[in-house]
Amino acid sequence: MIRHVSIIGTGSYLPEHIMNNDDLSRLVDTSDEWIRTRTGIGERRISVSMSTSDLAYEAGAAALRNSGLEPEDIDLIICATITPDYFMPSCACMVQDRLGAVNAAAFDLTAACTGMIYGMVTAEQFIKTGMYDNVLVIGAETLSKILDWEDRSTCVLFGDGAGAVVMSGTDRGLKLSATNLESDGSKYELLTCPAIPLDNPCVNTEFIEAETDLNEITGAEMSAQSMIKAAGQSKIRMLGQEVFKYAVRTVTDNIRVLLCKANLDIEDIAYIVPHQANQRIIEQASKTVKIPIDKFFMNLDRYGNTSAASIGIALDELVAGNMLSKGDKVILVGFGGGMTSGAVLLERT
Ligand code: COA
Repeated sequence: MIRHVSIIGTGSYLPEHIMNNDDLSRLVDTSDEWIRTRTGIGERRISVSMSTSDLAYEAGAAALRNSGLEPEDIDLIICATITPDYFMPSCACMVQDRLGAVNAAAFDLTAACTGMIYGMVTAEQFIKTGMYDNVLVIGAETLSKILDWEDRSTCVLFGDGAGAVVMSGTDRGLKLSATNLESDGSKYELLTCPAIPLDNPCVNTEFIEAETDLNEITGAEMSAQSMIKAAGQSKIRMLGQEVFKYAVRTVTDNIRVLLCKANLDIEDIAYIVPHQANQRIIEQASKTVKIPIDKFFMNLDRYGNTSAASIGIALDELVAGNMLSKGDKVILVGFGGGMTSGAVLLERT
C-alpha cells in the first residue's frame, strides 16, 4: 500500500546581523532605490560568526521541536546546500551529531535554489516506500561567503539563513499531493560558482604560463586551463537576464504541471510559496499564469535570496503565522542553478 507523506513540523533560523541596501551602497556603486525597484529586496541577514551547519542545526532543531518528535525518531537527515562548511563531512552529518539523531542516515544534496524542493521530493520517496518513517529536510546557506562583494549585479541579491521541515508517513499535517522536478544542464553556465580546480603533479601548467594559442591546445588541456583559472574564484557568477527568463518560464510551467497532475484549478490554491529571488520574477509569473499577486507569499524584502533556505523559511513563516486553514492547498515552487526547478503541492489536513 502506498503511504501518505506529510510535513509535520517546520522551522527556520536567520542570523541576527541585518545588512540593508544603504549599507551595501557604501560597498558598491548602488542605491536603495535601484535594489528595491529591480528586486524588491530591502535588507538581508549576513552571518558574522555562524557557519552553514550552525544555521542548519538551529532550523533543524526548531522543525524537530515543532514536529513533536525526538531526535532518536529521525531516520534520515537531508541537507540541501551549495555552501557547506566542508566538502567532507556533509553538513547533514554535522547536524545529526549536534541534534543527537543517532538513528539517522545523513547526506547533503545539491540543487542550488531548488534544493529544498529536491530534498522534500527525495524524502518523500524514502517514506513512500516504507524504508523510513521520519525525515528531516534542511535547506541552509551562508551565501555571503561565495559572493563577490565588488560585483554589484550579484552581491545585492543574496542573504544567509536556513529553513527546515520534518516529513513523516502520515496524512496529518501538510500532505504532499503532487510533485514535479526538472533540470536543464545545457544552461549550467547561467549561474555558477566554481569548486577547486584540477591540481596535481600530472597537470600541464606550462602552456598556461606561456600564454599558448588557445586554438592549439587539446580539449583536455583546455578543460584543465579553465579550471586552473578558476582557482581562488569560488564566487557566484550570473547571467542575470537569462536567469530571469528561465525563472519566469519554469515557475509558470511547474505551477501548470502540478495543477494538471492534481486535477485542480488555480482558484483551488490558497497560497503559492515561490523561491524568494526577485519580486519582479514573481510578478511576471503571476501575470503569465493569471494568479493574483496576493496569493504569492513573499518575504524577500527582509531576507533577499537565501537559495536552498528560502522556501523552508517562507513556509515556516506561513505556518507560524497561522495563515493556513484546514483544506488549504499550497504550492511550493523553486528554480535555480543547474539549471533546476521543481514544485510540491501541499494540502493542510
Ligand atoms: N545597482 C545599480 N546598478 C546596477 C546594479 C546595482 N546593484 N546591478 C547592475 N546594475 C546596472 C548594470 O551595470 C547596468 O548598467 P548599464 O546599463 O550602465 O550597463 C544596469 O544596471 C542594468 O543592468 P541589467 O543587468 O540589465 O539589469 P536588470 O534589469 O536585468 O536587473 C537583475 C538585474 C540581476 C536584478 C535581474 O537580471 C534579475 O533579477 N535576474 C535574476 C537573478 C536571480 O534571480 N538570480 C538567482 C536565481 S536563483
